[in-house]
Amino acid sequence: MMKYAARMKSMEKSAAIIRNLFGAMNDPEMISFGGGAPAKESLPVDIVREIAMDVLRRDTRGVEALAYGSVMGVSDLREVVVTHLLAPKGVAASAENIMILSGGLEAMNLMCQVFIEPGDVILVESPTFVHSVEIFDMFQARCIAVDMDDDGMIPEDLEAKILKHNPKMVYVIPTFQNPTGRTLSLERRKRIARLGSRYEVVILEDDPYRDIRYSGKDLPPIKAFDESEHTVLANSFSKIFSPGSRLGYILASSEIITRLFDAKSATNSHTPILPQILCAEFFKRGYYPAHHKALCDIHRERRDAMIESIDRYFPPGTKRTFPDGGLFTWVELPGGINTTELLKEATSNPEVKVAYVAGEGFFTEGNGMGSNAMRMSFSAVPPEKIRDGVERLGKLIQSKLQ
Ligand SMILES: Cc1ncc(COP(=O)(O)O)c(C=O)c1O
Repeated sequence: MMKYAARMKSMEKSAAIIRNLFGAMNDPEMISFGGGAPAKESLPVDIVREIAMDVLRRDTRGVEALAYGSVMGVSDLREVVVTHLLAPKGVAASAENIMILSGGLEAMNLMCQVFIEPGDVILVESPTFVHSVEIFDMFQARCIAVDMDDDGMIPEDLEAKILKHNPKMVYVIPTFQNPTGRTLSLERRKRIARLGSRYEVVILEDDPYRDIRYSGKDLPPIKAFDESEHTVLANSFSKIFSPGSRLGYILASSEIITRLFDAKSATNSHTPILPQILCAEFFKRGYYPAHHKALCDIHRERRDAMIESIDRYFPPGTKRTFPDGGLFTWVELPGGINTTELLKEATSNPEVKVAYVAGEGFFTEGNGMGSNAMRMSFSAVPPEKIRDGVERLGKLIQSKLQ
């Protein structure tokens, strides 16, 4: 018998949830509200081809693209992050404090490598992003849930749990949260930054949806209120450029960045150079503003189609969030319907063939929490199909209530 590391056991549950998720996503017959990818129609294929033709030459950036690069990442992409993505949001940063990552998720992995011993507590939102939990589980952390309401993580509960559990880290997704689509209020952003400083706890702010807002007023990240460098900001290019390019970044104090540098070097040396160059040139050549507008227009239309369809086809008593951006709405069903059970039928019944992600998996506390909830992603499906899929799912739900 193989003797696997204990971490494989501790990540068993969260890893199984993610494996199942990808299973449903791969069925071409299915209308899938399951995944978290931006609309395929929004990927900038033609622009990236044009940039690639230009940069992959010996007299341009061809050699740089195919050679080894720096652990911190390509320097002009780090500058792009500072000037195009952080400065407009009220975060003054230096490129020296930015490291380019292989996808936003790598931030959680490297932060665990740097900070987490087996048994350490990480405070997370209830519910939270299961893929990050998978990473926290792999490092044998103990995830403890902090209550949320419509304005995001509740600071009073956070403070009580900091005092009770002495956590190493607080993990928070402040904008258009995965899975709920909720946004942390301005006041709470300030308070969470202050709690990190007061109790000397690292606040890991994971903010990959913040740049895709379709309505409402923009809010500064928690990092903008951090006076003691206890907040570390993680972000991703997956939603605003391309998920397959696997690009993300992290902003941290010089002291923490040095440790992250060592962890990154020991993990994969550096992020692949070619996608970094393509992405940097995409921003530097001025393609982002028009792309960003198109991205938001496509997703706004899909969000509206999904919200209107839920209101029309789901039974009275259904609750749902209204996300001002991002990719998800969170739905809670009436009448004691179990969404894990419902999903089996929704995906296998040829009259329905609709996938979503059942709510239970997003709650680290277990106890059947979220058993009536579902995460519905509107990003990957065109509006007409959204209406069709929500109607079919609504009929199935109505039939369970009769
Ligand atoms: C909350 C959250 N964090 C991080 C990520 C990381 O994305 P990626 O690794 O694709 O950049 C995602 C993607 O779905 C997410 O929802």
